[in-house]
Amino acid sequence: MPIDFDPYTFEILSNAKHVVILTGAGISSESGIPTFRGEEGLWQKFRPEELANFNAFMDNPKLVSEWYNYRRNIINKVKPNAAHHTLVEFESVFPYITVITQNVDGLHQKAGSSHVIELHGNIYRNYCIECGKRYDYVKLDTRNGAPACEECSGLIRPDVVWFGETLPMDAIQDAQQHAASADVMFSVGTSAVVYPAADLPRAAKTHDAYLIEINPEPTDISMIADETIHNKAGEALPVLLKQYKAWLD
Ligand code: APR
Repeated sequence: MPIDFDPYTFEILSNAKHVVILTGAGISSESGIPTFRGEEGLWQKFRPEELANFNAFMDNPKLVSEWYNYRRNIINKVKPNAAHHTLVEFESVFPYITVITQNVDGLHQKAGSSHVIELHGNIYRNYCIECGKRYDYVKLDTRNGAPACEECSGLIRPDVVWFGETLPMDAIQDAQQHAASADVMFSVGTSAVVYPAADLPRAAKTHDAYLIEINPEPTDISMIADETIHNKAGEALPVLLKQYKAWLD
């Protein structure tokens, strides 16, 4: 099915000063990273209550650390895809771009996006749960389970937000401010079921932003979006930019 954006969307984009893009696991799926709730999603195979919360980590730090190793090994092998690269191109087309991501894979930064807010942390950052000493993944020996802190022998955990944990204050406050000041907000590759991230498109809409959703499947955001494109991000975003540039000519 050809992807055709509404010319009205181009008109809005041509007057936009601040374009904000909220992304979820779907934007990285075409790079080869499984989503969470899709058919082949991680939560179909693994139980989040056993792997992605603090009590589970304290109960079985080895299992949880090995699972994050498993995920890092997947991410290590992949590259950003056309969707990530198009968001980098946005930076030379629109005055001000903010990427707000729920992903912990670092692929936006790897692609070259210069303004990325990580709501749920980053899988390559780690810290000691006792003294807070920070470790980046490359230096950590996780072969024998949860690595211990050199300073205090405390357990080292990934710097990601687990279920039941609050988001980093500065990241969520930053994201809420940008959502509220957006002229155009994209919601790309998220099921929009995890809060407070899922509130951001609604907050932008409340502040009169024009909302565009890109997701092969309908979500709760589809109902409030000004334009919804039910396609893969790696196909739809390059087409949007191509059609927009043609419209500008
Ligand atoms: N392009 C765009 N969207 C896609 C693509 C694609 N190629 N492939 C799948 N999707 C969509 C799916 O239809 C789904 O709606 O991406 C969405 C992925 O949803 P989830 O797996 O729920 O991921 P996400 O919304 O990022 O989850 C939010 O939940 O598990 C926690 O902390 C984790 O950050 C994560 C949060």
